[in-house]
Amino acid sequence: MQLRRIDDMHVHLRQGDMLAGVLAQTVKQCARALVMPNTSPAVLTAEDVVNYRQSILDLLPVGVDFKPLMTFKVVPSTTVLQIKELKACGAVAGKLYPDGVTTNSQGGVTDFKALYPIYQAMQEEGLVLCLHGEMPGAFSLDRESKFLSVLQAIAADFPDLKIVLEHATTAEAIQCVQALGPNVAATLTVHHLYITLDDVIGGNLNPHVFCKPVAKRPEDRDVLIAAAISGNAKFFLGSDSAPHHISAKECACGAAGVYTAPVLVPALVELFEKHGALAKLERFTSEFGANFYGLPLNEGMLILEEKHWTVPDEYHGVKPFLSGLNLKWSIKEN
Ligand code: DOR
Ligand code: ZN
Repeated sequence: MQLRRIDDMHVHLRQGDMLAGVLAQTVKQCARALVMPNTSPAVLTAEDVVNYRQSILDLLPVGVDFKPLMTFKVVPSTTVLQIKELKACGAVAGKLYPDGVTTNSQGGVTDFKALYPIYQAMQEEGLVLCLHGEMPGAFSLDRESKFLSVLQAIAADFPDLKIVLEHATTAEAIQCVQALGPNVAATLTVHHLYITLDDVIGGNLNPHVFCKPVAKRPEDRDVLIAAAISGNAKFFLGSDSAPHHISAKECACGAAGVYTAPVLVPALVELFEKHGALAKLERFTSEFGANFYGLPLNEGMLILEEKHWTVPDEYHGVKPFLSGLNLKWSIKEN
């Protein structure tokens, strides 16, 4: 089968030694990817965006057609002038991390109203606001639902601001996004379409599927799958592929994040096929995200062949999602 080359509208490419390995996996699957800014130090300014983009482009394998879509972090100290500069340098979105809710979110946002001038400037500049939708301090399973009132308030006060609720994990979040206007969408990850909290802590602890927001109940996963295969343009792929070295996962203080980049398309094809929804896949992976971001659709097709393969235990020191499992579909290499 063929699939228009895809957009991953939420990915962590990392930096330093990790970047080359992650990028090599990402470009096999994606034509474009929205690159998260929670590096250390973070991507905050136009200069940071330009430097990070260049470090990605410098590592692109020769002849590979891949476009990183750059983001910046929206932090309490972000200024309106910076927003204008960020737009001018080609950033497409700002990512807001509430304080302390995930990897490198220390010093994040606690007062969502205080950033109204920033949302206003982003609305005027046509920048997308990407929200990590979890409320700091709430009980971990309730963090997403407790955040939804913040999303509703921003959406009501900035009707022309494009807002993405990233990595939605609950039925409540899906219903909330459905009820809001066309300026509000949500990304869905592959891992949240596959797993529930039981896969993380129901038997022996599996640190490799521990992520933020943590996977929820089977009923939530059912609603996420229904949204992904619904053909509703508000829901599109954002993998939140978030690699951490095995030593940072298998330890006393394991990092949050699931590394889905190496299995992205085969895992999605298998899931959509299982649900009799292959006809809806291309819209989810390659159309709705691009349309929401106002981008042209990617040229070119991925060719998928029915060729079983076993997901390796490790790529460049990181254990990928579904490692050791047999997948039915392979991407045909050129
Ligand atoms: O599990 C996660 N890992 N969730 C995030 O929001 C960030 C990510 C990371 O950067 O590791
Ligand atoms: Zn993320």
